[in-house]
Amino acid sequence: FAVPIGVLQLPLARIRAIESVTSPATRPFQVPLPIPPVLQPLRSDTTTDYYEMTIKPGLAHILPGITTPIWGYNGIFPGPTIEARRGRTTVIRQINALPVPVSTHLHGGKTPPTSDGYPMDLILPRDPAPFQASLNDASMRRFMGTNGIGHSLQMQMQQTKEYVYPNDQPASIHWYHDHRMDFTGPQVYKGLAGLYLIRDEVDDALPLPKGEYDIPLMITDRTFNADGSFFYPSLDPTLTTTPGVLGKYYNGMLGDTLLVNGAVQPFLEVAAARYRFRLLNASNARVYQLALSSHQSFVQIGSDGGLLPAPTLRQTIRISPAERFDVVIDFSHVPVGSQVVLKNLLGDERTTDIMRFDVVRQTRDESTIPTTLAPFEVLQPSESLTTRTFQFFYGLGMWTINGTYFDPNRIDATPRLGTTAIWEFTSDGNHPIHMHLVNFQVLSRDGRAPDPEDAGNKDTIFLKAGEKARVITRFDGYRGLYVFHCHNAEHEDMRMMGQFEVI
Ligand code: C2O
Ligand code: CU
Repeated sequence: FAVPIGVLQLPLARIRAIESVTSPATRPFQVPLPIPPVLQPLRSDTTTDYYEMTIKPGLAHILPGITTPIWGYNGIFPGPTIEARRGRTTVIRQINALPVPVSTHLHGGKTPPTSDGYPMDLILPRDPAPFQASLNDASMRRFMGTNGIGHSLQMQMQQTKEYVYPNDQPASIHWYHDHRMDFTGPQVYKGLAGLYLIRDEVDDALPLPKGEYDIPLMITDRTFNADGSFFYPSLDPTLTTTPGVLGKYYNGMLGDTLLVNGAVQPFLEVAAARYRFRLLNASNARVYQLALSSHQSFVQIGSDGGLLPAPTLRQTIRISPAERFDVVIDFSHVPVGSQVVLKNLLGDERTTDIMRFDVVRQTRDESTIPTTLAPFEVLQPSESLTTRTFQFFYGLGMWTINGTYFDPNRIDATPRLGTTAIWEFTSDGNHPIHMHLVNFQVLSRDGRAPDPEDAGNKDTIFLKAGEKARVITRFDGYRGLYVFHCHNAEHEDMRMMGQFEVI
């Protein structure tokens, strides 16, 4: 079977038109919110915690009475939560027991380039037979050099990989997920995503809700086939060579069923107290506008890169793929016996109710929300040495940046270590733009003030159609090659990605 190797055809060839699949009907608020288990280190020494994870198939019980085959870190979806401390190194040895290559990215991590999960820095399958099959796979062929790909220093073939995360950054909500070239969408959708929380003394010292009152909420959407398997509009990523045509999903896969921490529209029994929620949108393409049925505000205390200087009230929060919001919801004045629904104001019939909080008991709440949270350095435009513009547009039958699609041989910017720059992003559609390695601060949108969701240190900004955003960033941390891309996973797989090399 001759495989078309042209870079341009490949991602499109993976997507086939399927008229429509509707998940089996589900009823909201039937299952309690699961909390992903915290991964325990194999050992720890004075500087470092050492972990191991096997990336493998598993079975999840998501819909009543049927099982869903997933791919997961340690075989579960979401993957185990990793708890890290600022200043202590985390080392994770990953073993790939899937039939396809993977690359794990720590989203939000200030990570050396060799551990960043570059899309072609692949962990090959441990087992040889499926690995042979994967050599048939188009992205592997490119990886093997069919298109003369360079950057051999960045690309290593290995069957296990040790990722090293220095955690030299403030307390913040991060997540790890697959980042394999051209296949991030299907592989994350199959379940390859987990939370990674960094804590530090500044955060610990604040009187914010702690322990059982500090809860991660990973929001995703999925569509299920009648047999319980996830529906994804491409061929199985293990069999990627059959040509197809661009389907209705070219603009991103929207699932019709909402999951929180891997459970369909769950409920959580809470005390009448303040709770801290670590919100992550781990959906491939869906944008949510969060609100509470009680019309209470969220108190936002942090964003992608950590705590805000001061808390701010948010009646609603727009959260696009890969964004994180650290919020407190105050149930202390909500009468016991009441229910508060976390809603998505952008949803339809099936995708409006995300989860429900059932206030079931009184408690003595010792937490407070201080009026100042953490030191915050505002980056100054006067320090910027360069301004660059990146246009995120549809074109060439794909999703492009500045009129061209990702090419691992091309470096789009070479900032010097420690320098500050202004990057302008323009867009023809809805694109959550993510930069690896760095945080940025949003200066303006269309010359006006940033959106409320832009507050703080960000690594992902949601661009709306026709918008031009200016962000400022400092390229510190490490020299090396890093990508930036649209985090709509299907756009990303259709190559809306570029790369910068910090020199
Ligand atoms: Cu969350 Cu380059 O990705
Ligand atoms: Cu996009």
